[in-house]
Amino acid sequence: MAFPPSFLDEIRSHVSLASVIGRSVRLTKKGREHLGLCPFHNEKSPSFTVNEDKGFYHCFGCGAHGDVITFEMQTHHLSFPEAVERLAAEAGLDVPVQAPEERVRAKQAASLYDVMDKACAFFERELHGTVGRAGLEYLRRRGLSDETIARFRLGFSPDARTALKTALRQAGLPESLAIEAGLLIVPEGGGESYDRFRGRVMFPITDRRGRIIAFGGRILSDGQPKYLNSPDTPLFHKGSVLYGLAQAREPAAQAGTVIVCEGYMDVIALCRAGFGHAVAPLGTAITEQQIELLWRMADEPIICLDGDAAGQRAAGKAALRALPLLKPGYSLRFAAVPAPEDPDSLIAAEGPAAMQRVLDQARPLSEVLWQQELAGHAIDTPERRAALEHDLMEKVSLIADKAVQDQYRSYFRSLLWETFRPPRPAKPAFRPFGGPGRGDLLRSRGHRLVDRGADGRLPGAGRPPTLPPAWLSQERLLLLMVILHPVLLEEVAERLGNLRFKDSDLDKLRQEALKHLDGWGSLDSEDVQCHLRSCGFSQILDCLLEARAHDQSAHIKPDAPVEAARALWEDAFKLYTEKDLTAELQQAEQQAALNMSDETFGYLNALWSTKIRGGDV
Ligand code: UTP
Ligand code: MN
Repeated sequence: MAFPPSFLDEIRSHVSLASVIGRSVRLTKKGREHLGLCPFHNEKSPSFTVNEDKGFYHCFGCGAHGDVITFEMQTHHLSFPEAVERLAAEAGLDVPVQAPEERVRAKQAASLYDVMDKACAFFERELHGTVGRAGLEYLRRRGLSDETIARFRLGFSPDARTALKTALRQAGLPESLAIEAGLLIVPEGGGESYDRFRGRVMFPITDRRGRIIAFGGRILSDGQPKYLNSPDTPLFHKGSVLYGLAQAREPAAQAGTVIVCEGYMDVIALCRAGFGHAVAPLGTAITEQQIELLWRMADEPIICLDGDAAGQRAAGKAALRALPLLKPGYSLRFAAVPAPEDPDSLIAAEGPAAMQRVLDQARPLSEVLWQQELAGHAIDTPERRAALEHDLMEKVSLIADKAVQDQYRSYFRSLLWETFRPPRPAKPAFRPFGGPGRGDLLRSRGHRLVDRGADGRLPGAGRPPTLPPAWLSQERLLLLMVILHPVLLEEVAERLGNLRFKDSDLDKLRQEALKHLDGWGSLDSEDVQCHLRSCGFSQILDCLLEARAHDQSAHIKPDAPVEAARALWEDAFKLYTEKDLTAELQQAEQQAALNMSDETFGYLNALWSTKIRGGDV
């Protein structure tokens, strides 16, 4: 039984080789490869490597070598079709029905590649002949060198009904094959077949391995359609192909990332400008399969679409499509070329440096999602704020991976808290040394902090979570410890009662905690939390609990012994009530105000953390 080659490729791109092998072999990641003990021979030290990117395993000990299908065959003693069917089922792919004519078609696949390659050579020849002069001039006008034209095997389809058809016949290739390959069109009402591509600059489209599977043809004038593409064929399924993939693989491995742009010319322009790691979908929204393909090249591909409305809509769609697929360590980043440019025109107008600046500003998927939701919601009433929260959490629930989902939830919760809480006084009450505030310090490092408007809301977009100021961490900690260990509350009630928190939400929570100290029949943390929730503190409590993840108090565990919690509380209290911080911290901050290098920042941060943490809880 034969399967279409494109279907086998689909399996290879859908199923992660490392995870299939990982079921029976303990693998450890080493650089771009995984290493383990070979399942095919006896060995004590690992010489079995798995290359997810290239899609094969290899044992340096016994020479065993293959892809995900051969691995299934060998480890489960399956025949080829059995292994394929098993993997297809696992990936949720339908095995193509092997109708008799389809079986023939599958057998023809090899010769289909041949037709495509012959057609490509024909188009290339024509580009450099008299017929293709207009095409060559067009490409030169767009700045392409002969070398680039040859590298991408660009060509020209003569503006005639049967130029390619004749050339293929002369090469001895059957017409039926050329029709099958989508190169010739059979008129609906019957009659002679004719060339699909006429009078266009031809861009060959290849599979991962560089075999030509389709063409895109660009019209020279302003006519429609601008690009004509091959139809779906046994070799070509638009949604599972990326233009430029074969050429981009090596540069992507070197660059550690891959750029996804919109068009053929963008890929080529990027490549010429030194960004060889660029690919493009074929004029359609980015699909799941394409995302999986991208992740085989890089952990965090950069989606770099045009800055116009259509490009940004497409970016939003890609973000949503990626959510269910996210897994630890794998995501997307997003950059936008300022409208009305695309990478091709930007590079032509401003050079590669401008393109690099665009890429440098790529933002993580999480941030893009947040800004997208924030921009789409008014947040001036509690109901509207709840709607924003609801919609965000709905997006979060699309993430299938539990660990990633948890991280997203907590990330959005802390952003919501930052966004919704009342405005802080214009002049922060707490500026230890009259020097720059924490915000200034972060800003000086290029952190994008957004100032609140007069109504206390963030203008337009949100801001990425940043480390909270020391006093805020201390306030959170002083509350968190007594909520997690209510028995502490009795001990510290008097001191807690004499404080007044700078954060007004937290201060209300503090007062509520104290007010009900006597009323709390139980000193069980769950009961206390329940009580606070019933008084309307649910959201702030959630944030408090979630904030642990982003805070210097990250090491607090809910089940930490009360002694540890007490020590933590005492330290935080001491720091919080000290008129000045220690001389060391003072010096560091002053130095930081003058020159906030990465080193100073790290030092300062470490000081803050150890001060706050006060012990290993
Ligand atoms: P664009 O319209 O952005 O064109 O389409 P472009 O890539 O900038 O091309 P130039 O610079 O004008 O030559 C982006 C991509 O969408 C697909 C093609 O893959 C194109 O590269 N497309 C566009 C089509 O398939 N058909 C079309 O008619 C237009
Ligand atoms: Mn363009």
